Amino acid sequence: MRVYDVIAKKRDGAELSQEEIQFLLNGYAAGDIPDYQMSAFTMAVFFQGMTARETAHFTQVMLQSGDQIDLSDIPGVKVDKHSTGGVGDKTTLVVAPLVAAAGIPVAKMSGRGLGHTGGTLDKLAAIPGLQVDLAPEQFLRQVREVGLAVVGQTGNLVPADKKLYALRDVTATVNSLPLIASSIMSKKLASGADKIILDVKVGSGAFMKTAEEAFALAKAMVDIGSSMKRETTALVSDMDQPLGKTVGNALEVVEAVETLKGHGPEDLRQLCLELGARMLAAAGKAADEHRGKEILTELLRNGSGLKKLREMVTTQGGNAEALENYNLLPRAQVIIPLYSKTNGYISHLHAEKVGLAAMAAGAGRSRKEDEIDLAAGIVLKAKRGDKVAVGEQLAEIHAADERRAAQATDMLAEAFTYGQPEKHPLILGFVTD
Ligand code: URA
Repeated sequence: MRVYDVIAKKRDGAELSQEEIQFLLNGYAAGDIPDYQMSAFTMAVFFQGMTARETAHFTQVMLQSGDQIDLSDIPGVKVDKHSTGGVGDKTTLVVAPLVAAAGIPVAKMSGRGLGHTGGTLDKLAAIPGLQVDLAPEQFLRQVREVGLAVVGQTGNLVPADKKLYALRDVTATVNSLPLIASSIMSKKLASGADKIILDVKVGSGAFMKTAEEAFALAKAMVDIGSSMKRETTALVSDMDQPLGKTVGNALEVVEAVETLKGHGPEDLRQLCLELGARMLAAAGKAADEHRGKEILTELLRNGSGLKKLREMVTTQGGNAEALENYNLLPRAQVIIPLYSKTNGYISHLHAEKVGLAAMAAGAGRSRKEDEIDLAAGIVLKAKRGDKVAVGEQLAEIHAADERRAAQATDMLAEAFTYGQPEKHPLILGFVTD
């Protein structure tokens, strides 16, 4: 078999066989196929796509390129949750402890943020002392004993994706539906859960800008899950504006904790209940989503979710006092307000622009190696549909110095549009097998 012929076949829109996909991906992971040939291939996929069968084979070969976590020693059905990424998405910090408090073991591996989207590991890093780099045995022990662990990747999972993603990132081929679906699902499958709940984001702050694209991505991932006998359900949710009212790591921890205390913003609470209820139903802990929501609402009300988060933080070496006394979390030196210059309704709050403004304040990284300021970010005082008057506060910018704060403020002002508010449901729909 020749690499040239496989590339040409995909370029011409034909379906690749399992052997051809194996040959290509294994050869690339082993270093036998150079970046320039793989780049040509990913660009061919970008334009020609892949069939469901090719995508499933591609995912399987990626999955087999490294370690796979074995959760079989942990009793019960293990359910994982994954979001395709957005701005202000702190759902894992709420959903994981709530579901664990309901008695479902949660063994969660999360990532760091890149670009305008945040990552759960960065949010956790804002809690003083908390360790996210656990050895595989330690990770499994904690899930067995506490019922919950949220950590960085442990073990050498899907090295083929690591290499391929880095290549896609510099060859303008990240935004290909089958490549995103196989990249995400190979990592989810390698993490060992029996069932997977996906939150596919749609809108200005998401990979997928239209509902049609988001549902297609959701279906591709659900199909991959089914082909590997791991039941997968996806919901498609709004990321046209940020989720909740905070963007930035320490600020998002506070908002997540407030949500666990019953004081969170309505959109965040609602999405967490939807995701968590599906996890409970998938694990057989609730007869259906309605019952799942009732169970989780009670765990919010009686403080069990917060208690579980405290337990996890303590076990991972963090100072759980910071979940009560927010002064123990990183705090910005400079906080400046952004005021409205217009009377009227906010018709649109552009999530990507808010994310980029938060990055300019110091909350995000443009390259993997960049350091971030855990205290930096944005607190939104007004969102889509709100009526504001001239001089009313739209947001607060938290930064390490005046220069960063001023730059972020100018960028953030561009995220607000005034006019007739558009109707956007928080949850656009569900995709199941
Ligand atoms: N997240 C991933 O893990 N992979 C992609 O390709 C896109 C988003």
